[in-house]
Amino acid sequence: MSKSKSGAFDLGSWVDGRSKAVDAALDRFLPKASAKPATIHKAMRYSIFAGGKRMRPALVLAAAEACGGTDAAAMPLACAVECIHTYSLIHDDLPAMDDDDLRRGKPTNHVVFGEGIAVLAGDALLTQAFEVAARAEGWPRYSHRDLVLEIAKASGSLQLIAGQVADLEGEGKDLSVAQLRYIHERKTSALLCCSVRLGGMSADCTPAQLKALTDFGHNVGLAFQVIDDILDVTQSSETLGKTAGKDVAAQKATYPRLVGLEKSKKIAAQLTAKAFDALKPFKGRAVALEALARYLLERDR
Ligand code: IPE
Ligand code: IPE
Ligand code: MG
Ligand code: MG
Ligand code: MG
Repeated sequence: MSKSKSGAFDLGSWVDGRSKAVDAALDRFLPKASAKPATIHKAMRYSIFAGGKRMRPALVLAAAEACGGTDAAAMPLACAVECIHTYSLIHDDLPAMDDDDLRRGKPTNHVVFGEGIAVLAGDALLTQAFEVAARAEGWPRYSHRDLVLEIAKASGSLQLIAGQVADLEGEGKDLSVAQLRYIHERKTSALLCCSVRLGGMSADCTPAQLKALTDFGHNVGLAFQVIDDILDVTQSSETLGKTAGKDVAAQKATYPRLVGLEKSKKIAAQLTAKAFDALKPFKGRAVALEALARYLLERDR
């Protein structure tokens, strides 16, 4: 565990160490940039290594730790969720969707490689995720079938894709808070929840632990997207590494638009408090998960 000089848990150094290990593992799992056809492998690697915060892999590894597991056992799953996430960002940025030209501080995939290759790089990363997950060991309580179901459900047309569909169809409309929550649960919370569940599964967690992780992931995931909506209004493009103010320009349904900035901040804090509550069964052993939830609420990017 990462401790600062005072003995307190040091999330900065914990995330730093985990991110380096995740980057090294992704580098091993992805085809080399020179593998033919080189264009697609360069495009996949371009977005994967563009400088994301690696919060989903961090959640996988932190959940595994909370359940007494190891980074080594959880790593393929941490990489799989980052592949899914990065694919979703490449497609989210396409002109046909949010039409963004800046991501992770760099020109978006389609700006560099063209729309056709960007679509394919997303497709390839989505597929890669399942290949990488298949490299994980099985555990007594959970099989590869469980892993595949977990990832496919979170990313499929009833969850992540459903959220993206409703997000697109909600542009310019006055949605209710319930409709907005539907979008956030699916486009964002589903994959964050899946991340902590996979971490727990890699540690052969008990059903009770899996239930606690699910409650935690669901609430942290909802808070994550409320904060994402807030940051779009309050931060600069430079800080975010993506174009600020895009939600207002595209008339997206967001929490600041629906309930205002101050109420949005309160809602994010309440969701984070619920996430903390969910960790009670871990009796202080979920230090990294707790610190991540706090960081995700207070982050400025
Ligand atoms: C952005 O996610 C997309 C959302 C679901 C809000 P992140 O803020 O985790 O993006 P990266 O991975 O750091 O680029
Ligand atoms: C993206 O939501 C969610 C997914 C990619 C699944 P946003 O459209 O709000 O994400 P950003 O703000 O572009 O990162
Ligand atoms: Mg979007
Ligand atoms: Mg977007
Ligand atoms: Mg956003």
